[in-house]
Amino acid sequence: MTDISKPPFKNILITGAAGALGSVLRESLRPYAEQLTLSDRAPLGEVRANERHFVCDLADRNAVFDMMKGVDMVIHLGGAPRENTFQVILDSNIAGSYHIYEAARQESVKRVIYASSVHAIGFYECTQTIDANVPQRPDSLYGVSKTFVENLSRYYFDKFGLESMCVRIGSCFPKPVDRRMLATWLSYDDFSHLCIQALMTPSVGHMIVYGNSNNSANFWDNTQAGYLGYHPKDSADAYRAEVYANTPIGDPRHPAVRFQGGQFAADGHFEDDPNNR
Ligand SMILES: NC(=O)c1ccc[n+]([C@@H]2O[C@H](COP(=O)([O-])OP(=O)(O)OC[C@H]3O[C@@H](n4cnc5c(N)ncnc54)[C@H](O)[C@@H]3O)[C@@H](O)[C@H]2O)c1
Repeated sequence: MTDISKPPFKNILITGAAGALGSVLRESLRPYAEQLTLSDRAPLGEVRANERHFVCDLADRNAVFDMMKGVDMVIHLGGAPRENTFQVILDSNIAGSYHIYEAARQESVKRVIYASSVHAIGFYECTQTIDANVPQRPDSLYGVSKTFVENLSRYYFDKFGLESMCVRIGSCFPKPVDRRMLATWLSYDDFSHLCIQALMTPSVGHMIVYGNSNNSANFWDNTQAGYLGYHPKDSADAYRAEVYANTPIGDPRHPAVRFQGGQFAADGHFEDDPNNR
């Protein structure tokens, strides 16, 4: 981890702060900001020493503009974290992210670190190694919303100079639990390290990087993350025997096994009758 003697930032906003990854960063980013602004529509618990809380929906434009006041860095995690109805994706992920970017521009925020996803490129095959410059191939409406924000963030950088780091997170959970995650797993500690490097690197312009740990199985050429000094310490390899023992070998022709997006690539449209998907 980077050494710091005093908080390098005045006010870091974390959206989705009540969620799984938000709760991780609420702890690990504490030393990095004089104040953490935490936002979620779910309760955020007790207000701790250097925190301010905003319980609101990201679809509420005025609320997002309020929470952005005085913020210098944003970690944008809030939104639907998986496939949902188009209306939910539209309100939470698309409109919500637009509000974040537009408020960040008006408040002269330096940088947004955005939780993109493997599902922005989920229709590449697991046998392919791709870098961050390949065309987007979303595997779901959720994935489409991630590609939208990757492009929104590029627009805000090219036109207004608002920097962004889009992290295509693989599977960020306490441990890998299926065979696909042997390639896509990102440990909580490596996630924190990646976000800290994304905050501390003096200039990032607009970048897309992949978020996975140091796994032997790997779909991604993450050369660009090297610029950040991201050196993952954990590896899904430590769980390989356990995963093999607990999960069957899948049919390599099945879309959930064939494509990097896994089950998201195999599922039908979320709003169809589940019996006919
Ligand atoms: N965990 C992973 O493996 C993974 C992988 C790829 C991408 N991501 C992305 O990382 C982010 C965080 O994921 P997570 O695993 O912590 O999910 P999570 O569901 O635990 O957290 C998401 C949070 O966003 C909040 N939220 C949802 N819609 C909202 C809205 N309209 N307004 C305000 N708050 C809203 C929820 O209340 C929740 O607390 C998400 O954007 C997700 O798409 C996660």
